Formats: sequence, C-alpha cells, structure tokens
Amino acid sequence: MNGLFISFEGIDGAGKSTHIDALRQAFAAQGRQVTLTREPGGTPLAERLRELVLHHTMDGLTESLLVFAARRDHLQQLVLPALQRGEVVLCDRFADASFAYQGGGRGVQWQLLQTLEAWVQGADAHGLPLPSLLQPQLTLWFDLPPAVAATRLAGARLPDRFESQPLAFFEHVSAGYARRQQENPQRFARIQADQSAAAVWASVVQVLQQRGWLHP
Ligand code: TYD
Repeated sequence: MNGLFISFEGIDGAGKSTHIDALRQAFAAQGRQVTLTREPGGTPLAERLRELVLHHTMDGLTESLLVFAARRDHLQQLVLPALQRGEVVLCDRFADASFAYQGGGRGVQWQLLQTLEAWVQGADAHGLPLPSLLQPQLTLWFDLPPAVAATRLAGARLPDRFESQPLAFFEHVSAGYARRQQENPQRFARIQADQSAAAVWASVVQVLQQRGWLHP
C-alpha cells in the first residue's frame, strides 16, 4: 500500500479541525491526492451510525459496537481503497477515540476494545485474521487540558451527547489517550494544543517534516 494514513485525535474543543484542513492544503500543494474523512462516519452507512451514537441514549458497550461497526464500513468502503490508490487519508478521529471515549470515558474494558479492534482492523469479511492490524502510520494527538477545552466549547453551539459531558468525563478521556500513546509510542505524536493556533500548526508541520512526509 503506497498511501499515507494519518489520524487526528483529542478531546472535544482541542482544536484539531483547522489543522486537518491546513494539512490537506499542504499535501495538495505538494501534488498529493488527499482524502479527508471522519469517524464515526465517512460513508453513508457510517454517517447514519454516527447520528445514532451522537444523539441517542445507549450504554457504553452498545456505543462501542456501533463505533466499531461504523469503522469497519468506513475502512472497507473508503479508507482502504484510497490507500490502495496511493492517496493521503486524513481521518478526523479513528480507533484511539474508541479507547479514549468508550474505554476511558465510559469505562468499557480495554481488552474488549482490543478485541473489537482486532476484528475490525485485522480480519477479513469472514473474521479470519489478516497478517497485520490496520492502523494509521501517524496519529496526531492534540492534547489540551480539559478545563481549557471546556472554556473553548462553552456556548459554541448545541452540544451533542459527548460535548455535554462534565469535566470529569474529559479527564478520563484524556487519560485514555495518554494510555494509548504509551502503548503506541512510535505511531503517536503528542501536540501541545494549549498554545496559539500558529504555534500548534508549527508543531504539526515539524512532526510531518521529521517523518519525511512533508518537504520543507
Ligand atoms: P467530533 O469528531 O468532535 O466532531 P465534531 O467536530 O463535528 O463535533 O465528534 C465526534 C464525537 O464522537 C466526539 O465527541 C468523540 C466521539 N467518538 C467516540 O465516542 N468514539 C469513537 O470511536 C469516535 C470515532 C468518536
């Protein structure tokens, strides 16, 4: 596979959106084809699951099953074909969000999420294991203290089921991201998001240049 798969993570209000778009432009300026997508979502089926997850009451396990089902469809229909065409896939959230939100935030067993991950990202349509687990080559984690994120989100718009959670929930989500980073130190790049937008962007560019994926 010649493509490049990059995911963007962080708690609600961490400010990843602006940088995703800037990175899309930076890759396009270097002549790369870019697919910009998001999770949950990215395909018609996964967008319907997104709507359910964000707006209907359900327990943490149901939530986990739905976000991973959405991920499976998204991978099969959109992400893998784009990577096979050699494109850059920029994905606003991926599996780490399930570990952070459903694992950290909702308290769903880490091991259960690892099982879902192995099925969804590491098995064929019959559930037979593939040689490796599909993961992004790089995950940019926009790390912002939850109290700062809360002030940024306040009054922004009508909050969804996650955005309306109390500060303590986001402390747990943040801890979930930190655990994922510890478990995947090569793949993760932590971006200190409590800085000006220009400084955050400079950090993003630095990470991409260090890995040789953006030219100076
Ligand atoms: P978000 O990515 O913040 O989109 P927007 O910028 O439109 O608000 O919203 C997606 C929400 O879904 C976010 O609160 C995190 C949550 N989520 C999970 O709980 N589990 C997951 O696996 C994913 C991908 C997202």
